Amino acid sequence: MATVAGSTPTNRATERFADGSMIVRPDELPWTPWALPGVYFKLMSINRNTGMWSVMMKIDPDTHTDSHYHFSDVHVYVTSGGYSYVHDRINAGEYNIECGSVAHEPIIGSDGQESISIFYGGISGADADGNPAGDYVDVEWMYKAALANNAADHLDPPPPPREEFFN
Ligand SMILES: [Fe+2]
Repeated sequence: MATVAGSTPTNRATERFADGSMIVRPDELPWTPWALPGVYFKLMSINRNTGMWSVMMKIDPDTHTDSHYHFSDVHVYVTSGGYSYVHDRINAGEYNIECGSVAHEPIIGSDGQESISIFYGGISGADADGNPAGDYVDVEWMYKAALANNAADHLDPPPPPREEFFN
């Protein structure tokens, strides 16, 4: 992990400061394939205490994905293209709140979609009845996927086990 005390960066992608502040430079991060085909992300920040993660996401034009289930809210600011679910289409410059406990299938057009999103909890696939199914994508899943793609140097690794648990 690259940590900066003061203002001298040790990592091209990020600057971390002694007070805990961080500047993420996403242009220096590679896109990492996500859990859904045709979807890619750059992990901006994580919070293991709350389960939150924030990402830039990119979805290829005309991508068709299966339904997914949200365990908590996701806030999405669309920066390019657009998408829709059962409601109206959300276009670039617009902000969408996808509520938790909802299963749905996005519709992606020929212009694809790029966004900045804050996930307040995990996401998974969904069965035919809209119940969660398949892998559970949480903050640690996101961290490990980004790390495997050399895109997580700016993020803290999991904390070490507490010694007293093993005494
Ligand atoms: Fe969704």
